[in-house]
Amino acid sequence: MKSWKEKSARMSEELNVLAGKNILIGVTGGIACYKILELCSRLKKKNANLKIIETAAAKEFIKPAAFETMGKCKVYSDLFEGTNDQVHHIELARWADIFLIAPASANTIAKMANGIADNFLTSTYLAYDKDLILAPAMNTVMLHNKATIKNLQTLADYGAMIIQPETGMLACNTIGDGRMEEPENIVMYLEEFFASKDSNLDLAGKKIIVSAGPTIEPIDYVRYITNRSSGKMGYNIANEARRRGAEVILVSGPVNPMDTPGITKIEVKTNEDMQNAIDEHFASSDVLIMAAAPVDYKVANPSDKKIKKNGSNLDLNLVENVDIVKYFADKKDEQTIVGFAAETDDLIDNAKAKLESKGLDYIIANNLKDEGAGFDVDTNLVSIISKDQVKNLDLMKKTELANVILDLIR
Ligand SMILES: Cc1cc2nc3c(=O)[nH]c(=O)nc-3n(C[C@H](O)[C@H](O)[C@H](O)COP(=O)(O)O)c2cc1C
Repeated sequence: MKSWKEKSARMSEELNVLAGKNILIGVTGGIACYKILELCSRLKKKNANLKIIETAAAKEFIKPAAFETMGKCKVYSDLFEGTNDQVHHIELARWADIFLIAPASANTIAKMANGIADNFLTSTYLAYDKDLILAPAMNTVMLHNKATIKNLQTLADYGAMIIQPETGMLACNTIGDGRMEEPENIVMYLEEFFASKDSNLDLAGKKIIVSAGPTIEPIDYVRYITNRSSGKMGYNIANEARRRGAEVILVSGPVNPMDTPGITKIEVKTNEDMQNAIDEHFASSDVLIMAAAPVDYKVANPSDKKIKKNGSNLDLNLVENVDIVKYFADKKDEQTIVGFAAETDDLIDNAKAKLESKGLDYIIANNLKDEGAGFDVDTNLVSIISKDQVKNLDLMKKTELANVILDLIR
């Protein structure tokens, strides 16, 4: 699968980057014209604004009325129609946020590569200086003709984005290259394009798992051991990642919850629960940020009843828990793994050792004894440690730090 498809497929439904975008579609004379009806319908469902230009050859395949109905828009074709009120091809070039030519015929590609402006579509192209996407569609021999190869290369050199045609059954009853990409995938390509242009959504297409809060390990039916952790750092990272367009899975131990709009939240109790919840999403994720404070030990034989006091001491046999961040670092494929180190002594040395022994990409180290760092406060004072760098940051709000951490994995 092409990488933009994989990425965009994940760009969840609810992230509608196409709403309100002005999409100008240039339709040229190829049999793939019929696919543009479906494309229009899909784009309208996403609330995009459409305008369509058809070449004379395109009109031989699909009449303007069909596009006008599916695209709920005007179709332009005649360069000299209605020029008394405005020059339409210049207006359309100004109006468009993106100009998509689909299907792009060999003929129109050749004209564009050579600056010929002899119809509405090619004149608009010459008057247009923003982002351009071409979805070529043609017979395999036409596509591999040296002139077409050169023309497509020229347009790519001029900055056009080209949605490469697929291999498949062609209208001329042969199997080969030249089939226009399916409408559904062209929509994804446009989504990916707009999301990447929008700097506020720079994490769109990424799936990020964030763990937050402590875990708890039962001693008996009512008692447990845990770690001190408010979960604030993890919740801030999760919310900021979501705001920046990522798909976020938040695996949270028992803490006072903050609102997490648009986030898939999984509530867990024990270390094993947390490990299992992360495991469910790890293979399909891009990043794991372990901001949680899982308990290092669990009681070997917790009682399922309340242990009664009997006037003598209670000895607990504590066994070491799985080191969750190490478990996933050992198992990782392409994922980036960010761990946290909360220390009270020898912060940097301990954190560096942790980074290396666990095989992490980054470790966010804070000294719990520093003022403004650690539990229950809205600020943190940390150093970010990677293989070749130690970066000491100033005291900052946890929301601000969340964004500094997310900048690492952009
Ligand atoms: C049935 C039929 C199918 C065609 N399909 C294609 C096609 O898929 N791609 C293409 O580049 N040209 C195709 N052509 C040729 C174009 O229609 C022709 O080159 C025309 O001049 C293109 O004009 P335009 O670029 O202004 O739309 C086809 C022609 C016919 C008759």
